[in-house]
Order: sequence, then structure tokens, then C-alpha cells
Amino acid sequence: MEKKQIDWSNIGFGYMQTEKRYVSNFKNGAWDDGELTSDANIVLNECAGVLQYAQTVFEGMKAYTTEDGRTVVFRPDLNAQRMVDSAKRLEMPPFPAERFLDAVNQVVKANEAYVPPYGSGASLYLRPYMFGSNAVIGVKPADEYQFRVFATPVGPYFKGGAKPLTIKVSDFDRAAPHGTGHIKAGLNYAMSLHAIVTAHAEGYDENMYLDAATRTFVEETGGANFLFITKDNKVVTPKSDSILPSITRRSLLYVAEHYLNLEVEEREVPFEEVKEFAECGLCGTAAVISPVGKIVDHGKEICFPSGMEQMGPTIQKLYDTLTGIQMGYIEAPEGWVMEV
Ligand code: PLP
Ligand code: COI
Repeated sequence: MEKKQIDWSNIGFGYMQTEKRYVSNFKNGAWDDGELTSDANIVLNECAGVLQYAQTVFEGMKAYTTEDGRTVVFRPDLNAQRMVDSAKRLEMPPFPAERFLDAVNQVVKANEAYVPPYGSGASLYLRPYMFGSNAVIGVKPADEYQFRVFATPVGPYFKGGAKPLTIKVSDFDRAAPHGTGHIKAGLNYAMSLHAIVTAHAEGYDENMYLDAATRTFVEETGGANFLFITKDNKVVTPKSDSILPSITRRSLLYVAEHYLNLEVEEREVPFEEVKEFAECGLCGTAAVISPVGKIVDHGKEICFPSGMEQMGPTIQKLYDTLTGIQMGYIEAPEGWVMEV
């Protein structure tokens, strides 16, 4: 497969239009057969459910070129299932998981020229999403929906690559108890825009959200879960019903336990405890693992011993093992990579 002439090592996390995307429509109670299309634009009624009441959910995953030249997608079955869960919470008809996998497969195949080459540091980001497409003016679920998957090549989510980030404890909340924080709904991201623009304006890279009810426990950022490493080298990650169950985080806990022989703890993490940790990272499909060097809580700084120059040693090991599995030079657990 002839790859596109793109400066792969220097692309950021942005949208680049590729050749084909997948579309399926839900009407009269059923999904149609779906197909690939070249049309990147969508024409919608002015009163479409997604435009009025934000009825939309999405997913994010990546395709990679492995060391031996295969194209693989990392754990898309978990994204398929999470999108089913997200859809149900917003009263949308789930797109069947096996069809989700087929759609992803078709989109990667059709855009194979855009899957960045091995070693470039870039990957092909896949964005499945669905939304209420017919007109609704009373507050109720739409009757018609569209499911789509597009692909765009991406580089690192945070500028500066692997340089440790400085984040602030946000004054805003991301998700309410018993709300929608655990699903991947567009509304959670709309909520976070003012907070991230504010954080950037103040010179921070990201926000740390605390639990909305008590503001004493660590939740997550706008687009990634937290991982902490204790001084005695345990991996600790917050457990909460109002954070997104990150597939990267779940994979990293497995890697920590089974590849690196580390103890792992998924539990409530009081913010008070954060100053005791040796390392901190943000994990997600886009973020992979991005190291955090400093957290600022209203002027009070927590500086991790790993410093502001490089990843801490344990986060580095987790990063190396996970990316090795994704790029195919470390053996993956059964079922973790879908070959396209
Ligand atoms: N938390 C939020 C709010 C996210 O948007 C994401 C990104 O998908 C994650 C966590 C990380 O999840 P995953 O590892 O499944 O990409
Ligand atoms: C992802 O990691 O796939 C996300 O959806 C996070 C978003 C901030 C880009």
C-alpha cells in the first residue's frame, strides 16, 4: 500500500480529511445496511435532535502500522461495547457491536494510505459517532439516527510530546453524581470547554476535576483518566461512577500486573493523597500516557519527584510496554489487536 506523502512525524492532533467514511441510518426502528461514502459533509434539518438537545455519543480509537507492516486496531471491541452503553444512557438505539467492528474495519481498509508508517509516532485516529437526526422540538429522543465512522491521521495530543504537563485543579465540575460522566457523550465535552479555555488562558495544559459532590476525590481530566505511582511503586487509579471507563487505563492496569509485576489499586483517591505520589500520568487513546510534572491547587503546587523534564521511570515502563503491544513488537494478550 502506497502511503500518502505526509510529514507524519510532525502532525499534531487535528482533523485531516481522508478518503472514505462509513454511514448507516436508523429509521422506522431499524439500522440500514450502511456503506462507505466519499462525502464528508452532513445535511441536517434545522431542528435535528443533535442540534437542539445534544443527543450524540462518540468513540475514539487508533489504528497502527506494526513493525512487520500489518495494520491493527487496538481493542475496538471495548469501544463498540462502550458506545452501546453510551447510546442506551441517552435513549438512542445502540449500533450493534459486530457491525461497529465491521464499520471500523471498512474505514481503516479504505483509508490505508493514511495509516501512518511504523516508527513515525503518528497513528490513524478513528472516530465513530452517532446522533439524533430528525426534527424534535419537545424534549424527547429522536426517532431517526445516523451512525458514522471517519478516520484522521494524528500525532501527539499534547504539544511538546512527552514533556511533563502542568495542570490545575479546576473550579468547575465535569460530571454530576448519577449523571453522564461515565459515558462518552458530546455533552460532557461541551461542559468542559469553558474550563479548558480558562485553564489554557492561565497557562495550564489541562484540568484535574474533583468529584462534584464533595470536591475531595480525584476524578479525571476533560479527556483522560489519571494514573499515579506510589513511592513504593504501586499503580493507583481513581475509581468513580462519574469518570469514563478508559480502555487505555484498563489495559495499563493489566500491563502493570501481568507484564511488569506491579501491584495495582483501583480505588477512591483523596486529593489530599496526591502530594504523596512519586509519578502521575494521564491516560487515554489520544493522550496514550502523558506525564504530569506539576499540579496546582489555587496557588499551592504539588511537584512530582519525576520532575518537569521526562516521564518518571514506572510511567515510562508502562508507556513502553503498552506502545510495544500496540505496534506489535511485544506480544499482545489474546484478543487485544484486530488486524485489518
Ligand atoms: N476520559 C475521558 C473524559 C475521555 O474523553 C477519554 C478518551 O477517550 C478517556 C478518559 C480515555 O479513554 P480511552 O482510554 O478509552 O480512550
Ligand atoms: C480519545 O482519547 O479518544 C478522546 O476521545 C479524548 C479526546 C480529548 C480527544
